Amino acid sequence: MGLIKKICCVGAGFVGGPTMAVFADKCPQLNIEIVDINKERINDWNQNDLTKLPIFEPGLKEIIQRVRGKNLHFSCDIEPAIKNADMVFISVNTPIKQKGVGAGETSDLRWVEACARKISEVATGHTIVVEKSTLPVRTAKTIKDILNASNPKVDRFENKKSFSVLSNPEFLAEGTAIINLERPDRVLIGGDDDYAIESLKKIYLNWVPPERIICSNLWSSELSKLTANAFLAQRISSINSITALCEVTGADIKEVGKAVGSDSRIGEKFISPGPGFGGSCFKKDILNLVYLCRYFGLSEVAEFWNSIVKINSWQKKRIYSLIVDKLYGNLFEKNIAILGFAFKSNTNDTRESPAIDICKDLIKEGAHLNIHDYKVSKQAISKELDLDLDPFTNVLSRESTSKSWSFFDDVYQATKEVDAIIIITEWEDYKKIDWELIVHNLRKPSWIFDTRVLLEPSYFKNMDVNFWQLGLGF
Ligand code: UDX
Ligand code: ADP
Repeated sequence: MGLIKKICCVGAGFVGGPTMAVFADKCPQLNIEIVDINKERINDWNQNDLTKLPIFEPGLKEIIQRVRGKNLHFSCDIEPAIKNADMVFISVNTPIKQKGVGAGETSDLRWVEACARKISEVATGHTIVVEKSTLPVRTAKTIKDILNASNPKVDRFENKKSFSVLSNPEFLAEGTAIINLERPDRVLIGGDDDYAIESLKKIYLNWVPPERIICSNLWSSELSKLTANAFLAQRISSINSITALCEVTGADIKEVGKAVGSDSRIGEKFISPGPGFGGSCFKKDILNLVYLCRYFGLSEVAEFWNSIVKINSWQKKRIYSLIVDKLYGNLFEKNIAILGFAFKSNTNDTRESPAIDICKDLIKEGAHLNIHDYKVSKQAISKELDLDLDPFTNVLSRESTSKSWSFFDDVYQATKEVDAIIIITEWEDYKKIDWELIVHNLRKPSWIFDTRVLLEPSYFKNMDVNFWQLGLGF
């Protein structure tokens, strides 16, 4: 067993891509191969035109330009990449299970399991396997069991195969992934094999100060990831619950948030009110935590965390109902512009975006939507709005919703002659557009609904438009 020279990362997604790009950039001595079963995704990562990379992330394309083809490679050649690697990262998707035991509550581990089986089959010599994807606690045990049951037990050189499993959860947030990876608050490495832990630690030490690298046992590491995300999501549900109270009492959530966040024990981060948290992690991680609590009979703890998800769904429904109410309870033959479809700004990711539920509900009421986003494509929106999973048959069907919405890449065209505008993603550029012109072109009487507290309400006071802002009373 020597120093780690070759790394294979299975899964070229939002986690694997940026993480390995930063590894390659910070560690020129490493040779990294990112592999994926999705050919289209790999082709996109290999595009000459760096604006067409499959993931939009500030700072990513500059790094890809520096390292791609040098010490970072993207391919679909999964077996040779695993075979040659000293360390394999598992960065595959782990969405919520859609059917069977734990459906809607825990992660679907089919991709993780397939990945572990492949590693078990083709790895050679000693291989350190690192869980990078967010996983339910004790998944490392599943991975270990599969790896240790490897068949054959020896590799092609007749060397005995052996494995160490580490948990190294990702804490990157989309939109700031590169900064989070380059200057992490902490790196967490969980495991029970000191050699493996040291090997991974040595890689991070190329750019992360030693005091920021925390080592723990496997289960603490897996549980810390879920808990960190649950704490963050809890802050958002807390502030969102107060928005409703502000609206009925005459308080202003901006003022309340400032006063509350100024307490250094609370802090000002992660208390921006909005239409509800989205993204691939928060809901999934809390549901995993709830599932785990229920499994161990901790029903009060399960209910506590479950309420965070409940408030999140309630906020989306609340906003939708309020819009219907303001538009005289009728959306039939009304046009509404949706500004922003990504789950937050600075990303093209739409997973669990609050826009999905709000748009679906508005469409069901009979509205026609003009959807605009700076980075999300029409195809991505179609995937979220037009495909529905039938809860009884589990079959994906294309709903008739496709005629109920149109995609616009020009914000002025999207808002022309509509009855209402709803801001759902907090793109900074929405602050800079010509609102006077937009208001002039609305069908009257018209409404602007600012669910991200992005705009200055006083600016609209003398304009011919009704202005509603989340958490702003009276
Ligand atoms: C999150 C965690 O932050 C990250 O550490 C973890 O590794 C993955 O999950 P991400 O989902 O990419 O990252 O984005 P994040 O910035 O956490 O935002 C999640 C959601 O919460 C977004 O919909 C965002 O708009 C919302 N949010 C965030 C708020 O509504 N208010 C806030 O104050 C912060
Ligand atoms: P994340 O946000 O966790 O990175 P993504 O869905 O963006 O999730 O990316 C996960 C990637 O993993 C996808 O591109 C998917 O094709 C890939 N993947 C899933 N299973 C396997 C597998 N067994 N082998 C290789 N790649 C896989």
